Amino acid sequence: MNFELSNEHKMVQKTIREFAQNEVEPIAAEIDETERFPTENVDQMQRYKMMGVNVPKEYGGAGGDELAYAITVEELSRACATTGIICSAHTSLACWPILKYGTEEQKQKYLKPLASGEKIGAFGLTEPNAGSDAGSQETRAELKDDHYLINGTKIFITNGDEADTYIVFAMTEPDKGVKGISAFIVDRDTPGFSVGKREKKMGIKGSATTELIFENMKVPKENLLGKEGQGFKIAMKTLDGGRIGVAAQALGIAQGALDETVNYTKEREQFNRPIAKFQGLQFEMADMSTQVEAARLLVYRAAMAKAQGKPYTKEAAMAKLYASEVAMHVANKAIQLHGGYGYTKDYPVERMLRDAKITEIYEGTSEVQRMVISGDLLK
Ligand code: CAA
Repeated sequence: MNFELSNEHKMVQKTIREFAQNEVEPIAAEIDETERFPTENVDQMQRYKMMGVNVPKEYGGAGGDELAYAITVEELSRACATTGIICSAHTSLACWPILKYGTEEQKQKYLKPLASGEKIGAFGLTEPNAGSDAGSQETRAELKDDHYLINGTKIFITNGDEADTYIVFAMTEPDKGVKGISAFIVDRDTPGFSVGKREKKMGIKGSATTELIFENMKVPKENLLGKEGQGFKIAMKTLDGGRIGVAAQALGIAQGALDETVNYTKEREQFNRPIAKFQGLQFEMADMSTQVEAARLLVYRAAMAKAQGKPYTKEAAMAKLYASEVAMHVANKAIQLHGGYGYTKDYPVERMLRDAKITEIYEGTSEVQRMVISGDLLK
């Protein structure tokens, strides 16, 4: 057992940390305020190969492993959780299923431009009536000669109106339940595809969260991902990896909120001394730091399990459950320790608390993570 990062992982951490501090952090408040998609960050992430950090070099990626991916999302989210999720959703929810289940032609055509960062990816599973109950897909796909005709609506899709390539789930055999769901790779310019409304959200405001609308959308037969009926398993395995990304995002937010609090309490003076001199605040920060470190161990363990080809469903669920709750708790405490200033937009902790909340919801709510963990315990 080794709790030290390898030199390679330390290098990833240092590079992304410097990039996040120098280029992402300075515009994080403005992205939140204007709710604009941070194209310049994505361009830079392409340059640093972050958009394919865990994709083999032969397919345009950086050739890193899942721990490198978790560290990347953590460091980006420490500065800006919007930027963290753009990278995470793209790499884990769009690149990974093509890498894992795609044919060689699909990898050449779709994975390469995604992993190199030339194109952006998204994942279309959630529907108005299929949220936590992801198996209740109402989108239908019907095989007609050389193509599938797909009809339905997806909601809450991260990178929705910025993506070029979508992994879309639809029922091909509705009477078979979850075993009748199939996965498809969908080009944005497919006839019958359109992007619906963009959500106005509490946090991660620069992340484009939209509806996707399919009206007699004609998807070529060769864009079926995996086999017919394999879609639900593809979605679940993909989300197992995505949850490591959301856990890393939550960890980054928590670390960012802790950093801000340590700096602030050393500078802010009350009763003729920096407030960091008061033991009441020291103990709060000691607890926050311990929780952040415990979350980090769970997140890195889940990432290592995936990197080493070991089971990681439960590990990812535990990491996401715990890290997201730590992010909420630590960001909330951070505001408290900043006092009135923490409640204003002059300090980033207010944004961090709003950003933290989504990590308890998307890619499976905390309740769904508890279902996954207890299911494993009781099987
Ligand atoms: N890996 C592989 N297979 C899995 C699996 C996993 N992690 N989880 C379930 N399966 C398989 C089961 O083994 C079962 O197959 P068999 O019958 O062959 O054994 C099949 O899938 C059905 O399993 P369940 O009966 O457990 O399925 P369920 O309908 O009860 O659902 C659930 C289980 C865990 C609640 C699941 O529906 C779930 O994860 N829900 C949450 C969905 C979610 O996370 N949505 C987020 C979407 S993405 C997003 O947030 C937006 C974005 O863009 C970021």
